[in-house]
Amino acid sequence: IDRYAVFGHPIGHSQSPRIHTLFAAQTGQVLTYAAQDVPAEDFETAAREFFVTGGKGLNCTVPLKELAFAWTDQLSERAVQAKAVNTLALRPDGAVFGDNTDGEGLVRDLTGNLGLGIEGRRILLLGAGGAGRGVLAPLLALAPERLVIANRTVAKAEILAGEFGDLGPVVGCGFADLAGESFDLILNATAASLGGEVPDLPGGLLAAGGSCYDLAYGKEPTSFVRWGKAAGAALSMDGIGMLVEQAAAAFELWRGVRPATRSVIAALNAGRG
Ligand code: ATR
Repeated sequence: IDRYAVFGHPIGHSQSPRIHTLFAAQTGQVLTYAAQDVPAEDFETAAREFFVTGGKGLNCTVPLKELAFAWTDQLSERAVQAKAVNTLALRPDGAVFGDNTDGEGLVRDLTGNLGLGIEGRRILLLGAGGAGRGVLAPLLALAPERLVIANRTVAKAEILAGEFGDLGPVVGCGFADLAGESFDLILNATAASLGGEVPDLPGGLLAAGGSCYDLAYGKEPTSFVRWGKAAGAALSMDGIGMLVEQAAAAFELWRGVRPATRSVIAALNAGRG
């Protein structure tokens, strides 16, 4: 029976086994999917062991995505752009292929599930760490009017904007520099939510009818989701849909069949605050 797993640290809260088990049932695929606690220093040993003993595919989450990128033999173009790998697949020749389905997952949730437009819109991306980098190329591919990256450490936002400048109209700045600006969609890719905080933003950033989206998620609404609601967002969503969509893209890479996501997102939302 084909074996899959997610590696991360911590991993206890992971929803991935549940998501992939639902996908497998829905598509009639026979497989197992486990969660394994793997701290950064054990990643290479654990990944080698997993594939040597017949494992077919892995997901990697915090803090392993950059390590997986460095370890992998063959990389997709989008993994190279993200400098991070969230999905590893064993190839028939024994090589391990590394992909990154996070950006695709975000874009599918925004545009497909939530019906939010990107083309011609003003987008604000908060955060210039790994999570922000991973979604920049797929967002710019949808031709926003402009994409502003704002970060606590301003230089990181500017460097990231410079790196992706060939792909579209992107600039980097600090939070205070946003004063007086207006955005149709504000995305949170900072780790602030995890600590119950929100970046220190000027007021009035969200255009009338604009929406907010937190790439993070939790059992309760995140601090950024609550910030969006307080700011009058038409929609203020967390990243559960992105989580399910990145998993669907990984499942398709592994199994050659694309699972439907709507019922799985509904299952995960049932019983949340
Ligand atoms: P990830 O992979 O989750 O993106 P990361 O690469 O460590 O993790 O990046 C974390 C991001 O969250 C960064 O943009 C960080 O800002 P700095 O670059 O200035 O460190 C941001 N961040 C973390 N805590 C924050 C807070 N309390 N307020 C604002 N931004 C925060």
